[in-house]
Amino acid sequence: MTITPPATITGPRSDLDIYADAALLDPWPAYRELRDAGPVVFLDRYNMYAATRYDAVTHILRTPEVFPSSEGVMMNDEMNQVLRGNTLCSDGAAHDASRRVIVKPLTPKALRPLQDDIREQARGLVDRLTARGGFDAVTDLAQYLPVTVVSNLVGLPEEGRERMLVWASEMFNCFGPMNDRTRDSFSVLGEMMEYATTQAVPGKLKPGSWAEAIHDAAARGEVAADKCPVMMIDYMGPSLDTTIFAISSAIWLFAHNPDQWDLVREDLSLVPSAINEVLRLEAPIQDFSRSVAADHEIDGVMLPAGSRVITFYGAANRDERHYPDPDRFDVRRNPTDHLGFGAGPHACVGMNLARLEMRALFEALAAKVSRFEIVSEERALHNILRGFTRLDVSVHG
Ligand code: HEM
Repeated sequence: MTITPPATITGPRSDLDIYADAALLDPWPAYRELRDAGPVVFLDRYNMYAATRYDAVTHILRTPEVFPSSEGVMMNDEMNQVLRGNTLCSDGAAHDASRRVIVKPLTPKALRPLQDDIREQARGLVDRLTARGGFDAVTDLAQYLPVTVVSNLVGLPEEGRERMLVWASEMFNCFGPMNDRTRDSFSVLGEMMEYATTQAVPGKLKPGSWAEAIHDAAARGEVAADKCPVMMIDYMGPSLDTTIFAISSAIWLFAHNPDQWDLVREDLSLVPSAINEVLRLEAPIQDFSRSVAADHEIDGVMLPAGSRVITFYGAANRDERHYPDPDRFDVRRNPTDHLGFGAGPHACVGMNLARLEMRALFEALAAKVSRFEIVSEERALHNILRGFTRLDVSVHG
């Protein structure tokens, strides 16, 4: 089922296919065209508006009373039904209640005890990989911490855990409009929901784990018990691929900009700024959407009630109206207001953990690697996520 168009469409329109293979692999020209066409532009092929300018995207994310998430944040109606009621797809008091549970293990204070272990694991990994002289920055480097540390903390039963990477990626594909990629991924999504309902249950979860804490909160009446399976998805979906794609994109950027890697190596206090710059330039999640609850004007363009608007974080992050010379990778820029983690009430709850993992890896790499050279690469062809499925690099000490 595709999204139905609003009765009246005013303002700029475009027949660009923003989800075609070529546009997904290199979205920047299409994003620029849409930004130049207007603050929000109706996409004729998808019956949704596209917000691509920084100010428009930020406004939408920060105005949940007009642009709620409870009607879903995906670009097709089926998926908007599937995840109804999880943290990502809720508003107001229901959102506050589930977010309170999900965020508990992810605050800076809660993560502090994990810091030393994550740093040590990152150093050990980098030692092993650099001794080989080269590695796949996706499977060998980027997947390691999310798969070993994070999935253990989430605490799902061992059986099926190895499917997590596949589930996470396919789930994000299902966020797209109803194209072949979305259709193909729906069967895998069914498997993930089945696991969340039948396996991610008390008795099978690791004691003291984040997943178990969701059921404990339900037992205390803090969230509805029937929300537990979709709340599992809050951890199972975004805790892996997002960070993995961010790390592989960072290596790709450093390989192409050795002067910027030199700056980081000379001054490790630049690592947090470099992480922000990676997430600005190569937002791992390129876009989600919001429904429009009431007629609302953005910079002279009317969005009618009942329509849907796609918020392109990746396009807003490269808006020349907001960031000077936006396509340049500059580790000293420190764009703390980038939208790679979203903004407003749904801003990423996992950002502290993602930063912690990335920081540990880049500090360890800075001590060992003077140059990354790309041997071969394969970019992920994905509806929503941006990053690599393979990135073979050789490294020099
Ligand atoms: C570099 C890594 C990551 C990126 C780029 C990222 C990106 C995002 C973005 C853009 C949103 C906003 C969604 C919206 O506007 O509707 C979000 C929300 C969320 N993220 Fe992340 N994320 C990352 C890592 C993580 C991790 C590690 C976790 C969990 C351990 C996580 C859990 C969540 C959850 C539960 C939400 C929903 C929050 C809410 O609706 O209140 N994320 N993330």
